[in-house]
Amino acid sequence: MAVSSDRGMWSGRLGFILATAGSAVGLGNIWGFPTQVGQGGGAAFVLIYLVCVFLICVPIQICEFAIGRRGQRAPVGAFDAIRPGSRWWLVGGLGVITGVGILSFYVVVAGWTLAYIWFAAVGAAGDTPKAIESFFGRFAANAPLNLFLTIVTLAMTAAIILGGVRNGIERASRALMPLLFGLLVLLAIRAVTLPGAADGLAYYLKPDFSRLTNIRVFNAALGQAFFSLSLGMGTLITYGSYLSKRESIGSSALWIAALDTTIALLAGFVIFPAGFSIPGFDPSASGPGLIFQVLPRLFATLPGGQLFGATFFLLLFMAALTSAISLLEVPVAHLIDEHRWSRRKAVLTITAATALLAVPSALSNGAVGALTQLPGLGLDFLTLMSTIWNNFSLPIGGLLTAIFVGYIWRVEGALSELLAEHAWFPYPRLWGRIVRYVCPVAIVVIILFTIRALVS
Ligand code: PHE
Repeated sequence: MAVSSDRGMWSGRLGFILATAGSAVGLGNIWGFPTQVGQGGGAAFVLIYLVCVFLICVPIQICEFAIGRRGQRAPVGAFDAIRPGSRWWLVGGLGVITGVGILSFYVVVAGWTLAYIWFAAVGAAGDTPKAIESFFGRFAANAPLNLFLTIVTLAMTAAIILGGVRNGIERASRALMPLLFGLLVLLAIRAVTLPGAADGLAYYLKPDFSRLTNIRVFNAALGQAFFSLSLGMGTLITYGSYLSKRESIGSSALWIAALDTTIALLAGFVIFPAGFSIPGFDPSASGPGLIFQVLPRLFATLPGGQLFGATFFLLLFMAALTSAISLLEVPVAHLIDEHRWSRRKAVLTITAATALLAVPSALSNGAVGALTQLPGLGLDFLTLMSTIWNNFSLPIGGLLTAIFVGYIWRVEGALSELLAEHAWFPYPRLWGRIVRYVCPVAIVVIILFTIRALVS
């Protein structure tokens, strides 16, 4: 793609931070994080997650922004612009495929959120824990309904990107996100005052390292950190390409990571205290359905809970849409920039491919037995998808990005971008060492040990 002079620019640093936060904040924070904490055994997982975010992910996030701003292109072109004629553009290619992979299960869960706006408004799930649990079970097993919701969500995402209303949606969502934040705070306050909440808080905050016997917990924390920050597939390269040279990449990255992490942690303060107030609650038992079984119960304990619940799921759906848009945009921008497809053809083709891949995920929570319990694997297809893309594909994308910056473009090259116009950037040498040594070693070790544990 020729770098046209009319490439958009963010309206200053705040515009950039808010747009990137719109991509980062989504189901990853409010659905993915509590689900992974529940699978990973509680507080120890939370600690590992925080280390992954700030020690591994933020340094790589800075790499992606720097590549984007220097390359001035979507991911594939950006690598090529910095190292023309090399094969590094393949890292961008991996991101394109990963975008489709993640979107394929993301729209299924976003579809659940869409349905729960209605269910919460009319109180369809009932108000006893048993009723709510069996309601989710029946709902998730309903094949036509799940296919319908998945396709509607995907079509909305595609229509927003095609219809040129993307800016409008993102502006609306940005205005609504403080409301989502406020609701989360209120829900957390309500949750921690429920009977049984203390057990939930202990589970969430008191690490029990004796449970950390499995390397897969580290892998899950790493994958969740990449997923939540929209990192490792080039989304942030694209966003960085619109950032003006006057803005500091370092402080933007820290703000975005802090915001994203705060929202995820807050979701945990809602789900675990509320969950443990339900007798016999086992956070690892419900899999991807966790929040849909706990939240309606919490809403049922609130005055005006139906309105509250419907508003909450509506805001969550908006947050999911802005993330889904950023997922779809990576493969679409690639086909337009590098293969000169029309926007329409690119959106329709990628959407159709995503829809096909989404079908088995949509049917994997009870609708089709073999997809609900994959033979030999003992997990559902949706969880398999999120494991492949979040836990492997994103960290591998991040690893290659760190290697590219550390050894190919080299730290000095990247620093010339990061320190441009005297931008604020603390500890540049330390950052360089982390990118060259800590990130690659940590990611390689975690992934290799995980693979070893899986095959043995
Ligand atoms: N970060 C988004 C979320 O938490 C998901 C996402 C991942 C978006 C990767 C873009 C790229 O919901």
